[in-house]
Amino acid sequence: MTQVTNTVRFVLDGRIVEAQGERRTTTVLDYLREQLHRTGTKEGCAEGDCGACVVLVGELNAAGDAVDYRSVNACMQLLPTLDGKSVKTVESLARPDGSLHPVQEAMVGCHGSQCGFCTPGIVMSLAGLLQTVAQPGRQVINDALSGNLCRCTGYKPIVDAALVAAQAPREQLKIDDAADLPLLREIRRATEPTYSLDGEIVVQPVVRTRKGNEFVSPATLAEVADYLQSHPQATLLAGSTEIGLQVNKQFRRPDHIVYLGNVAELRRIEVRGDAWRIGAAVPLADIEPLMAEAWPDFAEVLRRFGSPPIRATATLAGNIANGSPIGDSMPCLMALGASLELRRGHKTRTVVLDAFYTGQKSNVLQPGEFIEAVLLPRPAAGVVFRAHKVSKRFEQDISATCAAIRYRLKNGRLSDVRLAYNGLAPAPCRAPKIEAVLEGRAPDTVSADEIDAAIAASFTARDGLRATWAYRSLVARNLVLQFIEESQPSQEAVS
Ligand SMILES: Cc1cc2nc3c(=O)[nH]c(=O)nc-3n(C[C@H](O)[C@H](O)[C@H](O)COP(=O)(O)OP(=O)(O)OC[C@H]3O[C@@H](n4cnc5c(N)ncnc54)[C@H](O)[C@@H]3O)c2cc1C
Ligand code: FES
Ligand code: FES
Repeated sequence: MTQVTNTVRFVLDGRIVEAQGERRTTTVLDYLREQLHRTGTKEGCAEGDCGACVVLVGELNAAGDAVDYRSVNACMQLLPTLDGKSVKTVESLARPDGSLHPVQEAMVGCHGSQCGFCTPGIVMSLAGLLQTVAQPGRQVINDALSGNLCRCTGYKPIVDAALVAAQAPREQLKIDDAADLPLLREIRRATEPTYSLDGEIVVQPVVRTRKGNEFVSPATLAEVADYLQSHPQATLLAGSTEIGLQVNKQFRRPDHIVYLGNVAELRRIEVRGDAWRIGAAVPLADIEPLMAEAWPDFAEVLRRFGSPPIRATATLAGNIANGSPIGDSMPCLMALGASLELRRGHKTRTVVLDAFYTGQKSNVLQPGEFIEAVLLPRPAAGVVFRAHKVSKRFEQDISATCAAIRYRLKNGRLSDVRLAYNGLAPAPCRAPKIEAVLEGRAPDTVSADEIDAAIAASFTARDGLRATWAYRSLVARNLVLQFIEESQPSQEAVS
């Protein structure tokens, strides 16, 4: 069905909501609370940290016969991204006869709520988890709750409640969306571009203001490329975990926003020779299982990246393009030798990630150019990969530094070494002088002094908000020593 301009349409508990006249930067949280009076969804921090605002966003699956849900932070997501989707809030869970969802019942039974402010978000995170995981253990539950802060309960009763709820029959745990399905099919977004009579692509806005500012949500790569050619200053929106922060905390109102989340070509992971090609709109949550198999240390860095609702939407491309000095995916990607496919109109070029940054938060992207995909090498015989993120808290915290290394062991010596860090320089980067110290050496002959000297020659010493230079450089050295000491003979290449 054709998109009605200036109307965001989504399904809420068996009815289509048509949000008209909203700003392009209105958040899902504000709309739910202020317009729909769904005040069960709370605002704690408005920056993705506390989880009081967690809701489930549903999308029709590929076959169109079921709804796939993701727990997201409603405070970070912009309302127009909901167009064509469905939302479940804590109010959606109670059955028509007023009986509670098993998670809610268990929270009551186990005394999982005290002041109650965090409770709706926790209930939604757990209800979301139990849609896909049948019998989660304590660790999985802890991980699922790592983006939900509770200052009252100490978490034990909440985790107990999750364990109790998980025993309920599947049909009781499943979100009731029978009435939503036909409506989701009705408001399904177009999957082909619209063309003018001249054969030009016309990107229809979801929201357009009288001044001509707009939020567009293309279905195809061609539309994105075309739109950026004519609007090179437009802001790309992927998972919204940086942009949402800018909107809420810096009151930014980009004139033109291009949402990538509905572009099918950008949501694919494909195998291309000895690499994966990861589309720019693939959420981190979809990459985690792949990394768990291929590069377990990368999966561990991702497990500690924000929280599940952050990773449900956040992308690698957004992390890379944002270019924070303490961005966590970049050291892993650089050490593994990842490169980027960049597109501008019809033209594409491939740039190795090491060469992407030109300084603090600056990069080689030209006006109208964007990241189309990340090319990530797959495991190969004899390749060792290690990575570790050091932060004050285990979860939901920013790196003091994150280091990643890739090497081979040939006849007991390190070779093809690639080492990268965040937190030590204005942008995440490789450390060629330390790589040179390691190359060709037996791991047990490398000394701490040599690494210290290479670190001092590679980086400008500066204290930061997250850590002093003395701490960061010590961690940077010790991680390298640990990574090479722990190399296992079984990982030696057959040279
Ligand atoms: C609570 C919280 C916790 C976080 N924890 C971590 C953490 O542990 N580690 C970490 O590294 N980061 C963390 N972040 C930061 C953020 O989640 C990441 O940087 C994330 O990867 C951004 O991806 P996104 O898809 O949400 O980007 P968006 O917010 O959609 O966009 C970010 C930037 O990238 C640009 N962009 C997006 N896609 C493209 C593209 N294809 N081509 C060119 N430009 C593009 C956008 O225009 C924007 O400037 C956290 C953020 C929050 C709010
Ligand atoms: S309000 Fe705190 S995460 Fe959204
Ligand atoms: S019950 Fe008070 S913050 Fe969790």
